[in-house]
Amino acid sequence: MSQINLTDLVCEKVKSLKAYHVESVEDGIKLHANENPYPPSPELLKKILARFEQLDLNRYPDPDCKTLKEAISNRIGVPTNQLVIGNGSDELIQNLMQVFCNAGDTIAFPDTTFAMYAITAKGMGLNVQTFPLNDNWDFEAAPLFEKLNASHARIVFISYPNNPTGNCFSRTEIQKLVENFEGIVVLDEAYYDFSGQTFLNQMKDHNNLVVLRSLSKIGLAGLRVGYGIFSSTLVDEINKVRLPYNSNSISQIAATELMNNFDTVQKQIDSIKEERSRLLNELAKIKTITVFPSDANFILFQASKNGENIFRNLMENGVLVRNLGAHPRLKNCMRVTIGTKAENDEFLDRLAKAL
Ligand SMILES: Cc1ncc(COP(=O)(O)O)c(C=O)c1O
Repeated sequence: MSQINLTDLVCEKVKSLKAYHVESVEDGIKLHANENPYPPSPELLKKILARFEQLDLNRYPDPDCKTLKEAISNRIGVPTNQLVIGNGSDELIQNLMQVFCNAGDTIAFPDTTFAMYAITAKGMGLNVQTFPLNDNWDFEAAPLFEKLNASHARIVFISYPNNPTGNCFSRTEIQKLVENFEGIVVLDEAYYDFSGQTFLNQMKDHNNLVVLRSLSKIGLAGLRVGYGIFSSTLVDEINKVRLPYNSNSISQIAATELMNNFDTVQKQIDSIKEERSRLLNELAKIKTITVFPSDANFILFQASKNGENIFRNLMENGVLVRNLGAHPRLKNCMRVTIGTKAENDEFLDRLAKAL
């Protein structure tokens, strides 16, 4: 029997990390993870299950995700040779860092934004450079160039709309960034279906632009499917670091059917957007909170005080939202995902009681 100090073996960059943590509730209302509150429609499910029956589970999945790429290509009008499928778009974020960064290199992103840019970078021994958002949760590009040049930043990640603030940053400022930054600009459009705003049409003019999308927010969070749109040269580089068979057969089938039958999902997206307007209105009526505009499937709001208590109270009463209060700019802030009408009503009711 051997007993060695395993923690001593762990490299320094990992020791100092904290694992991505989300609270969970067993039976409560889950409004903390920006998922689609609706399950796949019966029509979609039927199509997916019919294809599962023909599946050879003893065989590896298609390593090139050919059928899924064709379905995405038909839907968004991008050639298949510009697409890469990820095990969630998280994986593509990591792949981008693998392709463009050596240990010690820098990546940049606004503060505050999606936590995984920093977590992934630090786990790979990269430096992170952040630039603050103004009071409208937006930024100006011009003052950044000098700083980005000085740090030799390799990639700038822009969550569009931004998680957790919910807004799309100014298009003009992003445009300046894409045109003037001599590195890769990643437009992470995980919430595109709720914003309708994209930089995809700019890709033909700017080969340093990468667009990421996710199916997690529109119904397949459990299957981990994201995709990236790259200039075809970059696809070859990403494929060098992508793990073989990174997308499993079940995910590929379900995602293909979702893309080919998007009308069923579009109805769900439309009703989430309607509920978003209603929830924004209702939250705006509450005097002791500030609510921020949203282009996504979630809303950021700030209590005037006692954020932690409000979060705990909601959780103890079976409503889970995301508590963001630990961030200095987000004191007393929470992020609530748009749920079904009944879930949103329950949230509003519990929030009123918690306040
Ligand atoms: C901005 C942003 N990008 C990427 C992701 C990851 O999505 P996926 O589930 O496709 O890995 C998320 C998930 O919350 C996100 O908010």
